[in-house]
Amino acid sequence: MPLTIDILTLFPRMLDGFLAESILGKGIAAGHLTVNVRDLRSWTTDKHRTADDRPFGGGAGMVVKPEPVFAAIEQLQSPGCRRIYLTPDGTPFSTNLARELSQQQHLILLSGHYEGIDQRIRNHVIDQEISIGDYVLTNGTLAAAVVIDALARFIPGVLGEENSLTHESFTSKLLDFPQYTRPAEFRGMSVPEVLLSGNHAEIEKWRLARQREKTSQVRPDLLK
Ligand code: ADE
Repeated sequence: MPLTIDILTLFPRMLDGFLAESILGKGIAAGHLTVNVRDLRSWTTDKHRTADDRPFGGGAGMVVKPEPVFAAIEQLQSPGCRRIYLTPDGTPFSTNLARELSQQQHLILLSGHYEGIDQRIRNHVIDQEISIGDYVLTNGTLAAAVVIDALARFIPGVLGEENSLTHESFTSKLLDFPQYTRPAEFRGMSVPEVLLSGNHAEIEKWRLARQREKTSQVRPDLLK
């Protein structure tokens, strides 16, 4: 059974282009995964379709109400599905988590807005909270898109042969080596000689050296 993802959001149109384009769009078209964008307002019951309200105890901004979220999740969930809330105070997202999520049958990704959602949602209908980084987005919809994009790469068939996962950053714990393509000389800037040599052992050695150099400059924490 291919993975099914339901995204619950107040801003469904933010995902239109993202889901249709590129490798992810092809993976969805080929049936390697299914992504359903769900408008949280569909589960509101009043005539203004109210999905948020002012916080108890005061403070700025609006808080997503429990009723539509409980109703949506109760309708969409399946036995064993993982219900995830995207939030800057969640567990940091990583390639390992992306791989683990890619092996699930069904994910529900809830995007709130930055002021937050009613805590009862988090306590009762959410299994896991994920942050994509130490910065605050205006809402979690782009964060859900990031999670989907990263996990889709681990679903068999989504990446072709030519885009295989074997040599890449974070799988190897080293950042990537520099890539070059034709022309071999452009505006006086030439491609490193070794890459044109056809000597695969030397090319491997050079690439690994560049990976170590880059990683120690930019992400020394990965070398520990
Ligand atoms: N919503 C707002 N900011 C976010 C972040 N950094 N990660 C996940 N969800 C978010």
